[in-house]
Amino acid sequence: MRKGIGVIITIIIAILISIYKDNLETYFKKIFITNTVNPIKAKDVYTLEELSQYNGLTKKMLYLAFMGSVFDVSKGIKHYGGGAPYNYFVGKDGSRAFISGNFMDESENKDHILDFTCDELINLLNWKKMLTEKYNYVGTVIGRYFDEEGKETKYLKQFKERIILCHQAKEQAKEENLKYPDCNIEWSAEKSTRVWCSKSSGGVRRSWIGVPRQLYSPGQDHPRCVCVNIGQHENETALLKEYDNCSSGSTSCYIKI
Ligand code: HEM
Repeated sequence: MRKGIGVIITIIIAILISIYKDNLETYFKKIFITNTVNPIKAKDVYTLEELSQYNGLTKKMLYLAFMGSVFDVSKGIKHYGGGAPYNYFVGKDGSRAFISGNFMDESENKDHILDFTCDELINLLNWKKMLTEKYNYVGTVIGRYFDEEGKETKYLKQFKERIILCHQAKEQAKEENLKYPDCNIEWSAEKSTRVWCSKSSGGVRRSWIGVPRQLYSPGQDHPRCVCVNIGQHENETALLKEYDNCSSGSTSCYIKI
């Protein structure tokens, strides 16, 4: 009896398959092609197109991308909502404008930042900190900073390398400033420019006064006036030069610019 029912069901399935063969083929092909060409993405990886929908209109939420990281800024509606001052940032990666302030930039370069100076790049890190602390991180956007799998691109790695170099340069500048603090400077029509040293010139409080010298730094067009602790650091570098018409031990010099 059971065997008979089994045979009938098999015959019915065979008939259905022969009738709907074409439809079934299309259906399975669709599943196969969709999953190979467009593999199902991790939930937190967005295309630029998807991101653009989170503008408070197409989708209710407000998302913005900052250097490829996507944040849900819906609770900051007073900043980012329609008509608010920073609505520009919503639905896109407009990282560049966080520094440039150009809220009209819709070019392909609106997320490009590697041409910024060290100070500007470090400033970007402050913006990232603000966004991370205040808003929910929801994923990454495919593009300049992250790939389809949410992995960092070469561009993001380059940024991180630049930041390390920038921090090193800052540390070096700090050390140099302690060693060679800037001179005080004043200008008057009658006597031209005067540079001089004091125990707090260049914002560095110290026990010595120092003498004004020109410091030639690599990459700088003009030397800057620094105070040198005579007898201590004076002969350390060939980049230091005395001012003309100023005695080598004088703490104050009149100079021509
Ligand atoms: C490069 C230019 C600028 C950029 C990229 C920028 C960006 C931003 C962003 C993104 C916020 C929202 C922060 C958050 O989510 O909490 C913000 C807030 C704010 N911005 Fe700007 N801003 C710029 C210039 C200015 C200027 C020139 C002023 C003042 C004249 C200003 C005043 C403010 C104030 C007062 C807030 C806080 C508003 C509040 O908390 O209610 N911003 N800014």
